[in-house]
Amino acid sequence: MLAAKNTEYGAPSVLTITDVERPTIADDQILVEVRATAVTQGDRRLRTADFPGIAAVFGRAMTGVFAPRHSIGGSSFAGRVVAVGAKVKRFKTGDDVFGSVMHGAYAELLALSESEAVAKMPTRTSYSEAAALPYGAITALVFLKDMAKVQPGERVLIVGASGGVGHLAVQIAKHLGAHVTGVGHRHEDQVRALGADEFIDYRAEDFTERGQRWDVIFDTTEGDHFRAYRRALSQNGRYLSLFLTVRILVEMMVTALRSGPRAMAGVALGTPELLDDLRELVDARVVSPVIAERYPLEQIVAAHTALETSRPFGCIVVDVTDAERVRMPVMVRAA
Ligand SMILES: NC(=O)c1ccc[n+]([C@@H]2O[C@H](COP(=O)([O-])OP(=O)(O)OC[C@H]3O[C@@H](n4cnc5c(N)ncnc54)[C@H](OP(=O)(O)O)[C@@H]3O)[C@@H](O)[C@H]2O)c1
Repeated sequence: MLAAKNTEYGAPSVLTITDVERPTIADDQILVEVRATAVTQGDRRLRTADFPGIAAVFGRAMTGVFAPRHSIGGSSFAGRVVAVGAKVKRFKTGDDVFGSVMHGAYAELLALSESEAVAKMPTRTSYSEAAALPYGAITALVFLKDMAKVQPGERVLIVGASGGVGHLAVQIAKHLGAHVTGVGHRHEDQVRALGADEFIDYRAEDFTERGQRWDVIFDTTEGDHFRAYRRALSQNGRYLSLFLTVRILVEMMVTALRSGPRAMAGVALGTPELLDDLRELVDARVVSPVIAERYPLEQIVAAHTALETSRPFGCIVVDVTDAERVRMPVMVRAA
């Protein structure tokens, strides 16, 4: 089968299309013919071994000190189950599924346990659209719903609202009943179209100087900004950071012990339950995938380059198997 491998860390050009051995499955595993996968900032970090905060200390120890331990990257996927192990109960051959893994989705076939983050695909999406969802939407669900427990009527501010996580966080915050403010620079119209009630251009204005308060600030930009953003949080406000730093771990412990705004950070891991929730939201048209650009597997280097250079709005998708391969990138704008 074909796969995009990177046997060393580095620029997009380390990715090469290679013929590799087909995976075999254990009794509790399913074999998925990957139709589409996503190219995300998470995948870029793994490709370059660029681990932020305290992850810099143990990142390479986990992924390979001198070279990637798992040479086939790719985390979000959608595809068709083509084989199931003898003990598999949740899936059967022919099911369309989507999900997220730590590695292995940049390949025509992916073997994974049925207990991992995989679920039946939304009924209203193509494979490409389904692959565009897990990375950002699972992260937004974990942080906004599970961690911050956003309540209807709360004011939520999303820093980086036009990003890979942010554009799905806007939709999920709206679904939770929040008043949503997006902070970004480009793509204001698209962020508003996805449900943001307000948009603040960070290059023109510092939102912390508005004199306004938000109940939740979801910060998708690099670094821990709790101290700078604290004055824009309400008394019971929650600051959510996607970056684990030593400082935010200390802030989490300290703010958990006293009244006032709290700092929170963590790592979002997909589960079958979260994917089932996501499928329901997509089927109910509450959450919509936004595909920025599509590339065939052979052009995965161009897909990673686009992520780093043009940074389009929405998710960059790679069509993996023949069924959905395209010769040229297709631009799809947000509704
Ligand atoms: N902890 C976890 O579980 C977890 C999960 C997923 C992702 N992450 C991490 O979270 C980060 C964000 O991921 P992503 O895919 O959303 O990245 P992304 O697509 O690059 O989005 C970042 C967004 O932030 C905006 N931005 C940059 N500087 C800003 C500023 N000063 N104020 C407001 N907005 C600003 C950018 O807008 P412009 O392009 O217009 O500048 C961009 O839209 C990544 O580094 C990723 O590794 C962590």
